[in-house]
Amino acid sequence: MIRINSYYSNLSDNFLFYETKMRAERFEAAHPERRLLRLGIGDVTLPLAPVVIEALHDAVDEQARPETFHGYMPELGKDFMKQAAVTNYARRGVRIDPEEVFVCYGIGDDLGAIGGLFASENRVAVVEPAYPAYADTNLMAGRTIVPIPGTEENGFLPLPFPGLEAELIYLCSPNNPTGAAYSKAQLQAWVDWANEHQAVILFDAAYEAFITDPAVPHSIYELSGARECAIELFSLSKSAGFTGTRLGYTVVPKTLIREGRSLQSMWVRNRSTCTNGVSYLLQRAGAAALTEEGLRQSRASLGVYRKNAQILASTLDRCAIRYFGGANAPYLWLRCPEGMDSWTFFDNLMENAGIVGTPGVGFGACGEGWFRFSCFSTPAVTAEAAARLLSYFGA
Ligand code: MLT
Repeated sequence: MIRINSYYSNLSDNFLFYETKMRAERFEAAHPERRLLRLGIGDVTLPLAPVVIEALHDAVDEQARPETFHGYMPELGKDFMKQAAVTNYARRGVRIDPEEVFVCYGIGDDLGAIGGLFASENRVAVVEPAYPAYADTNLMAGRTIVPIPGTEENGFLPLPFPGLEAELIYLCSPNNPTGAAYSKAQLQAWVDWANEHQAVILFDAAYEAFITDPAVPHSIYELSGARECAIELFSLSKSAGFTGTRLGYTVVPKTLIREGRSLQSMWVRNRSTCTNGVSYLLQRAGAAALTEEGLRQSRASLGVYRKNAQILASTLDRCAIRYFGGANAPYLWLRCPEGMDSWTFFDNLMENAGIVGTPGVGFGACGEGWFRFSCFSTPAVTAEAAARLLSYFGA
């Protein structure tokens, strides 16, 4: 008889965003007269930049003609897309070799797969609150999670501490869900720790486009020694509106060696075995998004999301609700009122204000009593949510 993966019993029944979606859908089915406003999952609402749409149309036309048709893509990415990533790093003064860039459909897919490079006995430090897939994908593989709690006291930016024992470390800066962002000096402490302990950092850079503070690094490779210890995951989902289009890349430096093996070579072996490459159409779209013009056009959307953040932040100020974030990231992280736990507040806010957010405890135990609002809604939904919040809190 086949044996199933027993580690699944270490997971909660539902993934966080699946659970919030189900609860919202159940509510809507029971109250068809109510209109829910969604500030939950960080899903973009503004269309792709015109240069991206143009590139997609051109790529479709190429697929229609025998002389320009493309079959299988290279497993690791087309040269033009890898070069677009390299150029994007060069804008920040970071030098990456095209062979270190692995084009993918977005961070979600690679987060699940990259664990395949590491043995199951490794201990996995997750700087929490954190995107729940960091822990869940490792729990599925039977790894032990070492939560590193972010708290109000440490500004949600915990640093390595004496006695910390882990071999893999997940960091996301600017952080989802708190919006906290490590300075260069703080991130350097993690890089130094990882090199000293021969650990590996998985750095999620999904929110780098939202950084406004010049003291905050956009890539971990801005830090000295990071090429020797860090893998960086990047996505166009939030920066260029690709949540429904899909494109990202993972950087595995050739200088990242553990137990005498190159992780870059191992990842080449993994990807060339486990994938058939990323759609040509999407790589053309991704490369267009990373041109100067593509970045310029996307900045207009980022400005709209930033304005949403300001509106929600000033609303929370008026309601005297304590919150963090919104400056270098598209999320606001707020204290649940009246000592409510995260899920109680989720239900209460949905029932009484018709607003769907995300319960903080879904990002780790230290998120209990906290809540997250996404700033990716349309300005109209954000304005209505702000009005409903004022009334909910009696402000
Ligand atoms: C979030 O809302 O935390 C994420 O954006 C959802 C995702 O990327 O899957």
